[in-house]
Amino acid sequence: MKFLPVALTLAFTLTSVDAFSSIGKSLPSLIDIYCMGYSYYIQRTLGSDKWCRSFAYPHLFTVSPLPAFPNLGDVFKIVKEPCEKCSAVVVEAKVEQEGVSMYIGIDSDSYGHTNRPGNGGIRLLNYKTRESAIADAVRLAKGMTRKHDMFRTGFSGAKVVVKSDHKDLSVIQRRKLMQNVASALHAFEGGMYTGCDLNTSDRDMDYLVEATDEKYVLAGRNSQVDTNVATASSVIGSIIGTLQAMSGSDDISELIFTVQGCGKVGSTVAKELVRLGAKNVQTCDLFPESAKIQGCTPIKDWARTPCDFLVPCANSLAITEDVAANFPAGIKYCVGATNSPFANDKAREIFEKRGVMHIPESISSAGAILADSVEWYDIDLYQTVEPAKMYGWIRDISRVKASDLAAHAGQEPQHVTSNLSNVVPEREGEPVGKDFETWIEDNLSSTETLIIGGGLAGTATAFSLAEKGVNSTLVEQGSSIAPASASSNGDSRMYRKMYSSEFFSKMQSKALDRWADVERKSGSSLLQENGLLFYGEDTSETVEGSVLGALKVMERLGLPHKFYATGDDIANAYPALESCRGKPYSGVCEDTAGHIRASKACEAMAKAAGDKCDVKLNSKIVSLNTNGEGGKVVAVTEDGKTIKADNCVISCGPWTNDVLDLAGLPRLNLDIWQVQWGHYEVSEEASASIPQAFHFRKENGIDGGLYYVFPSSATESIQNGGKSYVKVGVDFPTGHALADMSSFNYQGSEEVLKLIDEWVEEHLPSVGKRIDSYCSPYTMTKDSYFVMDKLADNVAVFSGGSGRAFKFGPLLGDCVASLLTGEKAPVDLAPFSAKRAASLSSPEVGQAVVA
Ligand SMILES: *[C@@H]1O[C@H](CO)[C@@H](O)[C@H](O)[C@H]1NC(C)=O
Ligand SMILES: *[C@@H]1O[C@H](CO)[C@@H](O)[C@H](O)[C@H]1NC(C)=O
Ligand SMILES: *[C@@H]1O[C@H](CO)[C@@H](O)[C@H](O)[C@H]1NC(C)=O
Ligand SMILES: *[C@@H]1O[C@H](CO)[C@@H](O)[C@H](O)[C@H]1NC(C)=O
Repeated sequence: MKFLPVALTLAFTLTSVDAFSSIGKSLPSLIDIYCMGYSYYIQRTLGSDKWCRSFAYPHLFTVSPLPAFPNLGDVFKIVKEPCEKCSAVVVEAKVEQEGVSMYIGIDSDSYGHTNRPGNGGIRLLNYKTRESAIADAVRLAKGMTRKHDMFRTGFSGAKVVVKSDHKDLSVIQRRKLMQNVASALHAFEGGMYTGCDLNTSDRDMDYLVEATDEKYVLAGRNSQVDTNVATASSVIGSIIGTLQAMSGSDDISELIFTVQGCGKVGSTVAKELVRLGAKNVQTCDLFPESAKIQGCTPIKDWARTPCDFLVPCANSLAITEDVAANFPAGIKYCVGATNSPFANDKAREIFEKRGVMHIPESISSAGAILADSVEWYDIDLYQTVEPAKMYGWIRDISRVKASDLAAHAGQEPQHVTSNLSNVVPEREGEPVGKDFETWIEDNLSSTETLIIGGGLAGTATAFSLAEKGVNSTLVEQGSSIAPASASSNGDSRMYRKMYSSEFFSKMQSKALDRWADVERKSGSSLLQENGLLFYGEDTSETVEGSVLGALKVMERLGLPHKFYATGDDIANAYPALESCRGKPYSGVCEDTAGHIRASKACEAMAKAAGDKCDVKLNSKIVSLNTNGEGGKVVAVTEDGKTIKADNCVISCGPWTNDVLDLAGLPRLNLDIWQVQWGHYEVSEEASASIPQAFHFRKENGIDGGLYYVFPSSATESIQNGGKSYVKVGVDFPTGHALADMSSFNYQGSEEVLKLIDEWVEEHLPSVGKRIDSYCSPYTMTKDSYFVMDKLADNVAVFSGGSGRAFKFGPLLGDCVASLLTGEKAPVDLAPFSAKRAASLSSPEVGQAVVA
């Protein structure tokens, strides 16, 4: 018969609401008391309190005294009633240890509600006075309300402030304290949720989870979602959204960022900015070691180092009036994770006046509470979801919000604050966490073939598949096809039939026909005939062959070539190579060789694939299941998008083993080498006689002996006003082979640069000084044959380009495509087997391979 009193109360309450509705707000508390008291009862028995909400909330509800909760009075005393200005209730809860007290601030507007419960972390500080702790509870609860309201998380603001009289926090008995926090949370009966904040840790949350029986704690427990990464995602989303609104583009390649504070949030943001292609990411931290992040430039003084975009991820209040006024000219944006980055309003206004666009942290650092919203409204999804989807969703909604705000403010920094209210949603309505599931569905795409990696092999495969009518989605983690951080970037790669191996020489002939197809279908000119000279000492066979080995093959295959029997012959034919005179050198030249415009060629193949290939840039794969539902391949990108495909191609060069790890497939036996090159200035006159050439010398210590030069006609991207440049590089690695890219040093080694400089001085005396230097990854197999094979029924791989693959581009695409379509491959793929000894990490399984 337990429904009877409910029904009676319902009737009574409805009547009461009717009766009082004309009186409006002046007499709310009586209704509130009924409404609240029974809403709990009804929620527990009927599972819904909607009826109560619709009448009582928000218009009639103001703060009611404690009796709203049956047993609240036993646990709490109210120490601060809300007032016009402070608008938060603070209750003091019992703590059973000396010198510690606890104050819980809850935004008065939701105090006592479970439909919009309070949510804020627990902070533990050595406050000087009780009043300062209470004031902090009010201030922080209000701050949290602004965050929750900004996205309608379904929560209102709250904070648990624990005041310690001890300066030394280690004397506090944490487990006992968390038991007291748990008692307080229990008394709120779902009206209050909490998590970590200053000076509380995961260990405290474990105690709390235990003491609350897993209720009322939103701290990412039992889930792979990392709240720091969630916060970093809202920072990145807000940065991108700001740029979209301010400049109409999310291209960050011309921007210099300063990330202030390199803790978990700051370092995650910095790495992502590097990956998204920022011009430079400067990092600063109190601990200089923390600022050393791959691809970033550590700086000492963030407030005095020029940048376009300041990303505060450290202590509150760091941007003082002085900092704001004296920050180096050129700063345009300030978006970060720090709560209250400005010391005061004045400091913020100084930045505004200087035209610095600042997006408030109620948007840019809302990541963790957005995750909370999902955790509270859909705990099953929260605990099972791929974290990347959560981060991607957070990034997306932060991006949209930041962009909306900047647009509302008419791109004017000084209108941002007054326009905040324009982007805050109504409080009524579904909480944002409920959108997550829909977002996942909306961001799922399907394709026939997923291609991972947008360099030579990936774009060539897309091109070949498109010709066969097969759709593909190509994901590239960098911000462009063939990005600078990978192996296919740049102006030039050699093409030549001049090989010591007949097999590769014939492969080149076939590949040239296919390059012609690419040029025709893309309408771009990609190959340029410069001729190519092999010259130097009689080395035995090297990774690039040898002069005499190549000569033999040219003769045997009847390919046109010129032979120079002595160093004098070479010097006579090429005045720029005068230094060959008198040396025991020989040379062979293939006139029909030349260079391929490397980056352009990759772009052209993707373009020629047309709408058969969907290219997704800035899309790093973070999970890969090759055995999904129905045998499908299911991948998730770092921005949370799901891609389903029938099969996939792994064509990501030095990142191959990382992706194989994600998929749980066996690794290949690959080494990553750091290989260096640079551009040298040369007069137009001198450049005329510098050929495209490969110089063979015997190894000597760290000098691997193999040097190449590309003529000035092959360096088009840096040609400028009257000056010419040649590209010179080495074909031997620096230092140790690497297992993955995490320790790759894009600066390269000074020692090798010195060798290159010395080589130029000795062998190309007409060439001037070096203007830049690059270090690129080569992915090597032990026998320098590529790997082109299937690793599972629905997985094909191309890797181990070994610095020699580019010239075969579209032909390699045909080979990889044939693995998936089941057609006959255009060349014998046996030498490229993944099962041969040289490509397996456990060689005993494989068969030996011809080298
Ligand atoms: C607690 O944390 C804050 C900020 O992380 C720190 O400044 C403070 O000194 C810590 N300890 C105490 C006893 O408040
Ligand atoms: C919002 O920004 C606009 C400029 O786009 C400005 O005119 C207006 O005063 C701002 N404030 C509000 C409350 O809309
Ligand atoms: C992802 O989902 C959101 C929300 O549902 C939608 O606005 C957006 O367009 C989707 N993105 C893509 C690439 O489909
Ligand atoms: C391939 O993509 C095109 C264009 O995007 C689309 O119209 C077509 O339906 C797709 N075909 C298959 C088989 O998925």
